Amino acid sequence: MAKDLSYSCNACGATFSKWSGRCDGCGAWNTITEDKALASGPKGKTLGASRGKAISLTDLETQEKEPPRTEAGVGELDRVLGGGLVKASALLVGGDPGIGKSTLLLQAAARFARNGLKVIYISGEESNAQVQMRARRLGLEKSPVMLAAATNLRDILTTLEAEKPDLAIIDSIQTMWADNVDSAPGSVSQVRSSAHELTTFAKRNGMSVIMVGHVTKEGAIAGPRVVEHMVDTVLYFEGERGHQFRILRSVKNRFGPADEIGVFEMTGKGLAEVKNPSAIFLSERGTPAPGSVVFAGLEGTRTMLCEIQALVAPSPHSQPRRSVVGWDGGRLAMILAVLESRCGVPFTGLDVYLNVAGGLRISEPAADLAVAAALVSAREDAALPSEAVVFGEISLSGALRPVVQTENRLKEAQKLGFTSAIMPQQAKQPAVSGIGLRQAVDLAGFVEEVFGAR
Ligand code: TYD
Ligand code: MG
Repeated sequence: MAKDLSYSCNACGATFSKWSGRCDGCGAWNTITEDKALASGPKGKTLGASRGKAISLTDLETQEKEPPRTEAGVGELDRVLGGGLVKASALLVGGDPGIGKSTLLLQAAARFARNGLKVIYISGEESNAQVQMRARRLGLEKSPVMLAAATNLRDILTTLEAEKPDLAIIDSIQTMWADNVDSAPGSVSQVRSSAHELTTFAKRNGMSVIMVGHVTKEGAIAGPRVVEHMVDTVLYFEGERGHQFRILRSVKNRFGPADEIGVFEMTGKGLAEVKNPSAIFLSERGTPAPGSVVFAGLEGTRTMLCEIQALVAPSPHSQPRRSVVGWDGGRLAMILAVLESRCGVPFTGLDVYLNVAGGLRISEPAADLAVAAALVSAREDAALPSEAVVFGEISLSGALRPVVQTENRLKEAQKLGFTSAIMPQQAKQPAVSGIGLRQAVDLAGFVEEVFGAR
C-alpha cells in the first residue's frame, strides 16, 4: 500500500504529496518539509475501518446557554469582541511587528484581571524584565496578571493545567515550540500544531486563549493565516508606524459581528481609546485647500469621517507618477481613466499623489467620488466648500451608484458640523433633515455641478 505522506511549505502553507525543491504555491525555495504531525493515522488504516463511539445528535431549536462574557471595560475593545471576552474562546490577534500588539494585550490583560479573571501572560519574545518594564511604563505594575517568559509548549500547557487561569495570552504563536513536531519555531507546521494544541486545551479546560501572530512581510500570512480557521475570533491590529492611530479590526468572529473596528491612539503611556474618531481624524484639517475632501466613510458598523488629499502637478518624467497612500492603486487608475474618458478631465503629463490623512486605510468603493472630487479639485486648483462631505461609488460607465447606510453617513457629518453632502442620486431619498444634499447621476454631472462648466 502506498504510504500517505504529506509535505507542506513553511512559507505559504501549501501542501503537497511529494517533496520538491521549490514550492509551486509561492515560488520559495527549500521551504517544503515533511509533515510528520499530519502523516497518516494508525498503520495507514482509514478511519471508517474501525468503530468509533456514537455521537449524540440534537435539533436546531434546543438552545445551548449563551456562554458567559467578561468585559474589559474598554469600549473600543469590547465592541470589537462583540461585547466582551467569551469564556473558553480562542482568539488570534495579528499585525505587523512593532505595531503595538504586546502593548494592547498587556493592557487588556490588566483590564480583564481587574474585572475578576485569572490571567496569565506568556511571552516567548521578551524576558520577564522587559515585560515588567513595559508594565511600569503603562502604569500597570500592580495589576494581578501573572507573567512568564517561555516557549516550550509542553511546559506551558503543564503550567496552565496546574494554574487553571481564565485567560492565557500567548505572545507570540510564532515563538512557540512543540517538541513533538520536528521543525523550527515559526514554521508552518510548528505554528499550526501549537495553535491547535492551545485551542483544544482551552476548549477542554474552559479557558480563553489569545494568541498573537506576526504578519510576516513576504508571505504576509505564513503565521496567522494558517491559524485563522482554528480560532473563534480573528482580530487584526493595523496602522501606519509613523502615525499614532491604530485600528483593531475583527475579520472573523463566531461571537459577534465581523468587520467591526476599535480605534486607539498610541501615546507615551500605551494605547488610549479614541471614542470619536471622526473628530480626531479631521482635527488636523486646516483651512479648505484645493485637493482636500472630507469623505463620510463606514468602517464596520461605524461611520467615520476622514480627509482625502490629492496633489496634481506637471510631471518632469515621460512616465508620470501615480502615488497612493491609504487607498488602492488600481482603483485610483480606474478613477483617473473614468475622469479622462467620461468627463473630459485629462491627467496626461501630470503626476498624481493621493493620501488618506491620519494613516487610515480605506477599502470602501464608496470613497470613489471623494477621490474623484479631490483629484479634480487639485487639478483645477479649486477648493470644495469646507462644509461639505462627499461619498459615492463610481462605475466604469461614469455613473454614480448609491452606497449603503447613506443616512448614518449623513447623520455623522451633521454631528460634526457639516451642512451639505455631495452624493449620488438615489431612488429612496434619505430622511435626514438639516443637511443640504447635492446629488448627481453621473460623474460628468458631478464635475459640472461642483466645479462649474469647463
Ligand atoms: P509593541 O507592543 O512591542 O509592538 P508589537 O508587540 O506589535 O511588536 O509596541 C511597539 C511600539 O509601540 C514600540 O515601537 C514603542 C511603542 N510604544 C509607545 O509608543 N508607547 C508605549 O507606551 C509603549 C508601551 C510602546
Ligand atoms: Mg510584541
